[in-house]
Amino acid sequence: MLAPDSLILAVETSCDDTSAALLRGERQLLGHVIATQDMHGGFGGVVPEIASRAQLRVIDAIVEQALAQADVRLDDVTAFAVTSGPGLIGSLLVGLNWVKAAAYALGRPFLGIHHMEAHLFATALEDEGAQPPFVALLVSGGHTLLLFAEQWGRYQLLGQTRDDAAGEAFDKVARLLGLGYPGGPAIERMAREGEPERQPFSVPMVGAGQKPQDEDYFDMSFSGLKTAVLTRVRELEAEGRLSEAIADLAAGFQRAAIDQLVEKTLRAVTESGCGRVVLGGGVARNGTLAESVRRRLPPGGQLFVPSPRLATDNAAMVARAAYFRLGCGERSGLDLNAQASLAIPGIV
Ligand code: KG4
Ligand code: ZN
Repeated sequence: MLAPDSLILAVETSCDDTSAALLRGERQLLGHVIATQDMHGGFGGVVPEIASRAQLRVIDAIVEQALAQADVRLDDVTAFAVTSGPGLIGSLLVGLNWVKAAAYALGRPFLGIHHMEAHLFATALEDEGAQPPFVALLVSGGHTLLLFAEQWGRYQLLGQTRDDAAGEAFDKVARLLGLGYPGGPAIERMAREGEPERQPFSVPMVGAGQKPQDEDYFDMSFSGLKTAVLTRVRELEAEGRLSEAIADLAAGFQRAAIDQLVEKTLRAVTESGCGRVVLGGGVARNGTLAESVRRRLPPGGQLFVPSPRLATDNAAMVARAAYFRLGCGERSGLDLNAQASLAIPGIV
């Protein structure tokens, strides 16, 4: 269905980043450009209208740069791929319409890709061994999913967040602590200067009495933890001790958030009997998360973590996911629309 030397041009604009990638075959990344936006910091989060307008301005140039890096012409492209959801609707439409227009003009097929399935494929670009079966923890700014991937395209959804996403919790707590946006890297940096024991928070959703058949056994929650940090911040503020406690608060929050993710992931390892774990999404950049999972893996277990560039939003992972699905014969029609929320495909 897809030649082994096919050339896929993928575009990703689901949130504030604008990215284009050229993938030859399964893993040869010929060109990859990611433009991040830095104008949202002052607002404490991404402003959708500003993000999509900026993406519209740069999309042509980003694709041009990726083509130049890959030393190929648009006409050489075998098929196009684009994130069609979930994400910010205005942003998604920028990428989707660009790809539709190019595919139509050149008479080539194109395929819409689910953003979180793309994150699932990121490690496969870098490590030939990152193939199912594996347990996957996908942790981004909008989603937190715990999956068992039986094979590509066949996933058991074990658990997900019941409220905020993991990355969203890092962003909100960073804002509370005055650390700026995006919050994940800021919290991780600040946490290195602090002691989690000095500002401890209880780990959500990990009651000792929980059993595998319980509905919440694999589920996660972050909003209670965020509120606990807020309450502590107010107390410390009233006592005039907040500024000296920022690093300890960051460390305490990070430990509780990560302990929850690690505990749930290890439950999935135990229950599935599969010690191979894949991390994906922006929060997978967190070194403490990766280290904590690695420490607790059973003997013979293996952890696959994307490099920082492939953990956060990028078009290379979209191209890799498309390589799989285009290879299965899937194609999108020009009536494909962007979707703000969309269930991950292949859930069994
Ligand atoms: O996957 P991603 O780039 O975009 C979405 O699909 O949402 O993830 C972005 C999220 C943000 O919430 C950001 O704060 C978080 O990933 N993040 C981190 C780290 N780097 C990025 N969270 C924790 N630790 C980090 N080092
Ligand atoms: Zn993402």
